[in-house]
Amino acid sequence: MRAQCASLVVVCSLVAWTTVGCTGSEGTEEPGGSSGAGGAGDGESTLRQEYSAYFPIGAAVDSGSYGSHADLLTAHFSSITTENEMKFESLQRSEGRFTYATADQIVEFASANDLLVRGHALVWHRQNPPWLFSDGQGGDVSADVLLERMQAHISNVVTHFKGKVYAWDVVNEAIMNDGALRTAEEEAADQQSKWYAILGDAYIAEAFRTAHEADPDAKLFYNDYYNYLPEKQRGIYDMLSRLLDEDVPVHGVGLQCHLSIEPSADDSHPSYYQTVENLESAVELYSSLGLEVQVTELDVSLYVGGVIYDEASFYTSVTFTEDLQHRQADRYREFFEMFRAHRDVITGVTFWGIADDNTWLSEFSSGRTDFPLLFDTDYQPKPAYDAVIDF
Ligand code: G3I
Repeated sequence: MRAQCASLVVVCSLVAWTTVGCTGSEGTEEPGGSSGAGGAGDGESTLRQEYSAYFPIGAAVDSGSYGSHADLLTAHFSSITTENEMKFESLQRSEGRFTYATADQIVEFASANDLLVRGHALVWHRQNPPWLFSDGQGGDVSADVLLERMQAHISNVVTHFKGKVYAWDVVNEAIMNDGALRTAEEEAADQQSKWYAILGDAYIAEAFRTAHEADPDAKLFYNDYYNYLPEKQRGIYDMLSRLLDEDVPVHGVGLQCHLSIEPSADDSHPSYYQTVENLESAVELYSSLGLEVQVTELDVSLYVGGVIYDEASFYTSVTFTEDLQHRQADRYREFFEMFRAHRDVITGVTFWGIADDNTWLSEFSSGRTDFPLLFDTDYQPKPAYDAVIDF
């Protein structure tokens, strides 16, 4: 089952992408002729053209950026993910009332511009509406009721976007750094999983089964961060192996890849392990199960794990020097060399944003600003862009 299912899925994904790639680069004018804000000038190659034989290059968009960055988006990218607009709290803020208008506008834009859509995220321990885990009397909802609520949400959402969303992050971040399942006992409140507290690990398989029943053609992903941690990648592998042995319909693994300009020098910090080699091990480990692998939330922060930054040391467009820009470019280059080398199992690379003027990494209450993407705050290509497109 595993080998047969997996080879079928890989063939489907290659056919799907090849078709999109061919359509994009042969026979029809590849978007990008506009020289709008950041769009590629006539004759200039674009990311989606240069990667049409490798994998779709995607970007996370929000309710504003798919419009404000439209030229850049349609010139260079062939896939989008909604940053927040398809999360539980966005689509079902109150029980039984689904609010699809914003996400639908983004999906309509995508289909009008030949962009694939990744759905993010059906089940996550964060960004859930207050009613979801509540019994309405100040206590936790029962396991039976929560299971019904999860299944109703997934069925409604996946059915709504059927044929428009080709891949879903079904379960997001269910494994901890040590490889164990995320529970409700985690130290930080925003790290605790009420899904696990009330349903145990059963919620994971049920989420995938429900999504598959709603759209048997959608590719279903498990998505997580810190995949370069040896213990964590082993924990994810073991969980996925168990799911596949139980014939749970999992088709791929999303590596978020929120990277830094260099690994941490502090061996007690997770990003000490943030090396190409460690991430490559995760790609090889997960794909050994017959699963597709996608990079789903790529950015390269200027801030290094384990280093304490005060306001005076926050980066600005002035202190983001040429040297730093080229170090960031080198970091992107070394990871993309590995991504391309594994094009047989990597079926998508998505950046967590389009340009540096709109990144989640500059939205912390500290006021810290970051410059993690390929295009600068004026939508212009950075050395990091050159490092990714020139190969
Ligand atoms: O919608 C409210 C708005 O009404 C309110 O006025 C505003 C100010 O409080 O907050 C808005 O909600 C914010 C939401 O983004 C939508 O903009 C939340 O405060 C903010 O915390 C939330 O941040 C998102 C974060 O996930 C939440 O954990 C980021 O934009 C988003 O980029 C980030 O993405 C996650 C992936 O989904 C999973 N992987 C990690 C990645 C980075 O954390």
